Amino acid sequence: MKKNAKTPSESSVEMREMVMPNNTNALNTVFGGTVMSWIDIAAAMVAARHCGKPVVTAHIDDIDFLAPIKVGYHVLIQASMNYVGRTSMIVGVKVTSENPYTGESRGTTRAYLTFVALDDLGRPVEVPGLTPESEDEIRRYENAKIRVEHKKAFKGTQKKK
Ligand SMILES: CC(C)(COP(=O)(O)OP(=O)(O)OC[C@H]1O[C@@H](n2cnc3c(N)ncnc32)[C@H](O)[C@@H]1OP(=O)(O)O)[C@@H](O)C(=O)NCCC(=O)NCCS
Repeated sequence: MKKNAKTPSESSVEMREMVMPNNTNALNTVFGGTVMSWIDIAAAMVAARHCGKPVVTAHIDDIDFLAPIKVGYHVLIQASMNYVGRTSMIVGVKVTSENPYTGESRGTTRAYLTFVALDDLGRPVEVPGLTPESEDEIRRYENAKIRVEHKKAFKGTQKKK
């Protein structure tokens, strides 16, 4: 059991953006790369808050764009720590669009990102443990653990270069 474990709520982040015309694609809805950038920033803040160190994105997993977001709509980005390894951390991010005139909201994007904490020399360094508390946090922890195990098993089946 790791020392100094933290709860997901100690590092979670909520950010809001508005889709401006320069964030859009040819269909006048949000450009996917912009959403990915918001996701990466929110998730990186969670990882840095959890470990108290500089972090880098190592992997982006399972990003699903479920619905478009219109220009002028508000965007809620919610990110929280789902799982930690020795030096790596998995952050789950949920993106919700909000029609500012009606208040109607809709889940639009989901993603899981892996960050690695770095020491002063840029080497991976151990991170604090994670203690999920709520039912949702425990479910996210268990799901992330399964994804990590699948990824390890899949890597084992890949051809070595
Ligand atoms: C991420 C990085 C530091 C890992 O370095 P490394 O020498 O491979 O380190 P290790 O093999 O010791 O792995 C460190 C941890 O990262 C995890 N990891 C490394 N690559 C990973 C990947 N592609 N997916 C998931 N986890 C990964 C390892 O499983 C290990 O986790 P653990 O300590 O919790 O068991 C290095 O690959 C890197 O600097 N990448 C570039 C990062 C970057 O520039 N990102 C974009 C801008 S922020």
